[in-house]
Amino acid sequence: MGRKLLLENLDKPEINTIDGYIKYGGYRALEKALKSMTPDEVTEEVKKSGLRGRGGAGFPTGMKWSFLDKSTDKPRYLLCNADESEPGTFKDRLLMEKIPHLLVEGMIVSSYALGCRTSYIYIRGEYMFILRILEKAIAEAYAKGYLGQNILGTGYSLDLHVHPGAGAYICGEETALIESLEGKRGNPRIKPPFPAIAGLYNCPTIVNNVESIAAVVPIVNNGGEDYAKIGIGKSTGTKLISASGNINKPGVYEIELGVSVEEFIYSDEYCGGIANGLDIKACVPGGSSVPILPKDLLFKQSDGSPRLMTYESLSEGGFATGSMLGSGGFIVFDEKACIVRNTWNFARFYHHESCGQCSPCREGTGWMERVLHNIEYGHGKMEDIDLLWDIQRKIEGNTICPLGDAAAWPVAAAIRHFRHEFEYHVKYPHRVFDADHVYQPEMKMQTV
Ligand SMILES: Cc1cc2nc3c(=O)[nH]c(=O)nc-3n(C[C@H](O)[C@H](O)[C@H](O)COP(=O)(O)O)c2cc1C
Repeated sequence: MGRKLLLENLDKPEINTIDGYIKYGGYRALEKALKSMTPDEVTEEVKKSGLRGRGGAGFPTGMKWSFLDKSTDKPRYLLCNADESEPGTFKDRLLMEKIPHLLVEGMIVSSYALGCRTSYIYIRGEYMFILRILEKAIAEAYAKGYLGQNILGTGYSLDLHVHPGAGAYICGEETALIESLEGKRGNPRIKPPFPAIAGLYNCPTIVNNVESIAAVVPIVNNGGEDYAKIGIGKSTGTKLISASGNINKPGVYEIELGVSVEEFIYSDEYCGGIANGLDIKACVPGGSSVPILPKDLLFKQSDGSPRLMTYESLSEGGFATGSMLGSGGFIVFDEKACIVRNTWNFARFYHHESCGQCSPCREGTGWMERVLHNIEYGHGKMEDIDLLWDIQRKIEGNTICPLGDAAAWPVAAAIRHFRHEFEYHVKYPHRVFDADHVYQPEMKMQTV
């Protein structure tokens, strides 16, 4: 059994209340940080831990914190990104729903380190019930003197607010989140300036994912070095993985970074193998925006060594043979799954969620969706496959924010590794559906 730093007390009774949370060691990090550490010392521990942002990009958290512009008198803000809208990702939800005080404590300690007097948790609108849970937890923290004026008599004061989004994936992009929080349409901003220099209300701002902020609690409790002992190389600590798709045990797992992909899929401690006794066909290891990996590339790196659940190993070989750990949205496809249908489904999502600001993304995502729809529904031509390749190439890298890349990569990887399935759809369109137009994936198992 690997070490658990975030979900250790998940099943403890009343862990969702402040008293239950304190009973199992909660708010120790707050006491330690505010009473015996300077803000810079807290940042130093986060740097030592090697923690990398858990929202998707994996940028080192301590380094991001050190970019915060401290040369101005303007207020500084910490924004927690709880927008969690990436298909296949549902780990922040579990954390906030079951152990809300872990996030609240993480917000207080992190805000202290950054010198913030007001901080926000920006949560996706669909998580309204969790917003209520967080509001209750925050009210409990105020009542105990952990929030508000002069926290625990230390002279440090902080107000914490929860703000709901209105159901837009783009508002998870940090500058769109800031625009939305300011009451505007959630369009990403051109960077630079980065939020650490000019973010919310043009003030220095740090945006961090829920899991990143929660991880600050065990880092302060046990020290950054202890956290860094877990994992391999630059992938330190534990990571929450949202496991879904054709596996026996879908759910959220806290893994020590460095577990092999094979162990994660097949061991009973985690996914418990592929459902219904089938073989695996492919896996999207880091949320819908990262490249899909076919079975033959999933378990081994190019040198034949096992592929591991780390930032480096999952991306080994670049996009030719690798993918990304991303947000840890681990989606498994069995041998009957239809890659074309899945690619169309993802493309539909990105088309719907494109903010429309940049032409390549606004037009390209719609174009990809329509071409994929044609292929999936039996109206495709062979040239469409090259057309799709061409469109995704023209989106990638040509937009203000990475939503364009997120839309392009799944299409590119599907064609790169599963071109034969696209060709099969074009050649044998009638085999995709039965007479009642019910989707029949097993009909597509024959080779072209
Ligand atoms: C389209 C888009 C959606 C995103 N959605 C989220 C999200 O829901 N949650 C999140 O933490 N990061 C999301 N990100 C990444 C954020 O922009 C940002 O990098 C992250 O919140 C930084 O936190 P971290 O350093 O702790 O990972 C998204 C990025 C893009 C381009």
